[in-house]
Amino acid sequence: MDAKQHNYNIEEIRNEFPIFRQEIYGKPLTFLDSAASAQKPQCVIDAVSDCYSNEYANIHRGGYFLSQALTAKYEESREKIADHIGAKSSKEIIFVRGATEAINLVAQSWGRQNLSSGDEIILSRMEHHSNIVPWQLLRDEKELTITVSPIDERGNFLLEEYEALLSEKTKLVAITHISNAIGTITPIKEIIKLAHKVGALVLVDGCQALPHMAINMVELDADFYVFSGHKMYGPTGVGVLYGKQELLDAMPPYQGGGDMIRSVTFEKTTFNDLPHKFEAGTPHITGGIGFAAAIDYVNSLGFDNIHNHESMLLDYALEKIKEVDGIELRGRADEMAGIISFTMKAAHPHDIGTILDQDGIAIRTGHHCAQPVMDFMDIPATARASFGLYNTLGDVDRLIDGLHKVNRIFA
Ligand code: ALA
Repeated sequence: MDAKQHNYNIEEIRNEFPIFRQEIYGKPLTFLDSAASAQKPQCVIDAVSDCYSNEYANIHRGGYFLSQALTAKYEESREKIADHIGAKSSKEIIFVRGATEAINLVAQSWGRQNLSSGDEIILSRMEHHSNIVPWQLLRDEKELTITVSPIDERGNFLLEEYEALLSEKTKLVAITHISNAIGTITPIKEIIKLAHKVGALVLVDGCQALPHMAINMVELDADFYVFSGHKMYGPTGVGVLYGKQELLDAMPPYQGGGDMIRSVTFEKTTFNDLPHKFEAGTPHITGGIGFAAAIDYVNSLGFDNIHNHESMLLDYALEKIKEVDGIELRGRADEMAGIISFTMKAAHPHDIGTILDQDGIAIRTGHHCAQPVMDFMDIPATARASFGLYNTLGDVDRLIDGLHKVNRIFA
């Protein structure tokens, strides 16, 4: 299938991304590392740059024009993000530095308040370190149990086995929506429904899902959902914790400082309302505004179109990669996003990455901050190609040519 068949003008789209105008070692850039961080369209760069050039002042603090106007714009950005993920209210959108901070916030605020000795947290085998380590820190402090929900050798999340693990001891399930390391799309709706049956809350790591699919908090019924701006074509250093309002209302603050208070004396402090209660200090103002610009951009293309385009790339890549000798796909789940993790008989992933890089092809190699799933597959690392809305069939062809070259070099 050709990209034009689903009304998606890939050349026009690529023109929006200035990074693709440059060459790497004299070769065109084939960027296949969007799962690590996505490239930025001009409208996002302009939104950030305009803000610094023409609109800048601190927000939530000044009574003067610039501060008031930028406060309104920042809060409109929050509304936009709330609308985009189908949250009931923008009070449920807490701006944080990224998904990692969002998970740490829930662990340290909700977790410390609500969990005690003997309580259990269920994680999946394919979690990112950021959805493991914050829970381990809490486990060690509170004598909790962490139970790992299994996957099969193809990387499918095993729903029945997960259901069997759930009990009245389970207080939290913290699971990824899409695995960054092996591309599995988890059956997140069923995971949430089953957890709720035993009264457990669910935190979803949505970092890899947000750029690739429409999500709706009311439909999903997640209690917490976390994501980063930079993987969604937005700026680095900004992310979101979505939480149901009644949960966030009942949680203690995570960090203390300016903006999160209503009144302070040396004897007593009272806290601000949501969402500000969780946003101590000057926020990443341009980050929030740039993130909203990225959401506008993605919505202007349409998620159905993006999804069709990325599915086409994935299908094509999965077909073509079979032609390469000695490839082993690591992660072949029934439902996969645009992430292909693989190893080769001939070469270590780092060597694959180096050889591809010489041809201007950027992939990630290593354990992808998901060592437990590497251990499960009994390998230290994979090579990973991940797609964004700007990739082309030509990018896939160049990747495949590069992999043939790896075989030639190591033959
Ligand atoms: N978590 C990011 C990745 O998957 C950085 O590469």
